[in-house]
Amino acid sequence: MNEDRRHVDIDGIYRQLSLEKIPWNVEEPPEALVALVESGSIKPCRTIDLGCGAGNQAAYLAGRGFSVTGVDSSAEAIRLAQENAAGKGVSCLFVVADVLGDVRALGETFDFAYDWGLLHHIYPEQRKKYVANVHRLLSKGGKYLSVCFSEQDPQFGGVGKYRKTSLGTVLYFSSEDELRELYEGCFTIIELKTIQIAGRAAAHQANYAFMERK
Ligand SMILES: C[S@@+](CC[C@H](N)C(=O)[O-])C[C@H]1O[C@@H](n2cnc3c(N)ncnc32)[C@H](O)[C@@H]1O
Repeated sequence: MNEDRRHVDIDGIYRQLSLEKIPWNVEEPPEALVALVESGSIKPCRTIDLGCGAGNQAAYLAGRGFSVTGVDSSAEAIRLAQENAAGKGVSCLFVVADVLGDVRALGETFDFAYDWGLLHHIYPEQRKKYVANVHRLLSKGGKYLSVCFSEQDPQFGGVGKYRKTSLGTVLYFSSEDELRELYEGCFTIIELKTIQIAGRAAAHQANYAFMERK
């Protein structure tokens, strides 16, 4: 798909819509993340939330004793995340940053990285760079959770790798096979599966990949 047709001003969405109207903004922490924490698979540690949006998951983890840095390319998302964490009485560091940029500027390595609903915004030709950045941000043996839309999801037209949402964002729908191929050079895949995740309007089919940095 033509590059210009894929670009959408997500910062504008955060500025124009209330959080209740932003379809991906779900206040409750996702079951899959809670399960990793509750089972002890992920213990409190230095954590980075990539594409943190309004900081709901970051605030949840901070409340569980994690030391969380959240990054997002939208300055308004970062402002909302700061407000969100302050309102919940938890402390996180939120930074405006492009996950495709020079992440060394963050000046730290982490033991756990996750992206929840980010990877479908990262298009195939950008993904190698992205995965290299996640690898760079994690210490050896660090864990990585990635959850993005599956091509099996029946919504947004139901077919096709690129699908346009009602907000005008153009998302890329992945298969488990392409994610395995994407990750396996840098990460040992602990679990790769298709799960159902809650959305504001409806549940979605998503790819869940839980990994360890090589
Ligand atoms: C679907 S939202 C998910 C937000 C959050 N993880 C959540 O679950 O509520 C995707 C987020 O990724 C951010 N994003 C997209 N491309 C990005 C990039 N290249 N660098 C940093 N953030 C990005 C968007 O601004 C948006 O906040």
